[in-house]
Order: sequence, then C-alpha cells, then structure tokens
Amino acid sequence: MVIQNCCEMNQKDERQYLEPDELLASIEKEHSAEQNLCDMLERMADNLLEPLDMESARTVILTLRRSLKRHVTLEEQYLYPVLTKRLCPGDLADNMLEHIRREHAADESLAHDTADQLELALERGRVENPEMLGYMLRGFFECRRRHIAWEDAVVLPLARLRLSAKDFRTFSLKEFEATVA
Ligand SMILES: [Fe+2]
Ligand SMILES: [Fe+2]
Repeated sequence: MVIQNCCEMNQKDERQYLEPDELLASIEKEHSAEQNLCDMLERMADNLLEPLDMESARTVILTLRRSLKRHVTLEEQYLYPVLTKRLCPGDLADNMLEHIRREHAADESLAHDTADQLELALERGRVENPEMLGYMLRGFFECRRRHIAWEDAVVLPLARLRLSAKDFRTFSLKEFEATVA
C-alpha cells in the first residue's frame, strides 16, 4: 500500500479519538507516502511507450481510488473544520480554505479519471493513448506535489500552533472509518 492507514495506531489500542499531534503526524506521514506515489506516477508517465508494469498499475489504481479519498476526508471533515474555528486574523488569506477545498475536489476527480484509464489499459493489456494518459498522470502528480508542499509548509505548522486536544474530542474513528469505507 502506498499511502498508509492514518489511524492504524489507534485502531490497535482501540481508542476512539486522536490527539492533535497524532492526527497531524499521520497527515504528514500520508503526505510523505503520497510523494512516493507521485514519484511512481512520474516514472510511469516517463515510460508509457514501454509495456505497462501491471503490478504497479494495480497498486496505483487502488491508491488513487481509496487512499486519496481517505486522506482528503480526514482533512476536510476533521482537520480543516477545527482549524477554521481556531484561526487568528491574518493566519490565512480569506479565500484560502475555499481554494483548498476546490483543489481536493479537482484532485479526487482527476484521480478517478486516471484510475479509469489505467484500468482500461490493464483490461486491454496496453495503453492505447499514451499521450493522454501521460497528460493525466502529470496533471495529477504535479497538482498533488504542489498541494502537499503547501500543506506541509503552511497548514500543518499552523495547526500545531493553534490546535489543542479538546479540538479533536469529537473525532470518532468509527464514524471516520464508516465514511471512508
Ligand atoms: Fe489537502
Ligand atoms: Fe493533505
């Protein structure tokens, strides 16, 4: 699995909530794992004229369909709502959170379209339109790299500064798992 399960640690000890440090560290780890995915997609995009690596393609499809949804849901439903409540004037530009939401939606949509094309290639045993798939792969990983770099540099340090344990008392692992199942 390229992007790990952010709540693995907590499922093991059966707690029903995350501490802010745990949640932010998990998001950071998922970003790092997603950077690996982006590297994998870049290699794939660079080699589309070669026979498709079926194993990598299957891993990428699963990651694009499941792990990104999980990550975006964690940010949209838990991190950004609590952070929005705790922001101080001047922390972020007014339209920044709306911009992040639009990027999440666009990235998820592109992830599914790219996964569809890879599934088609697996079915047919070859990439019929390497130029189009290359364009989609590059569009996806370039957007994600930019998005992750910005969240790592701006959002996560800000969240560490502004959030405390009580901000996550309503976080329910059960609800989260049900949402992303
Ligand atoms: Fe994000
Ligand atoms: Fe993120």
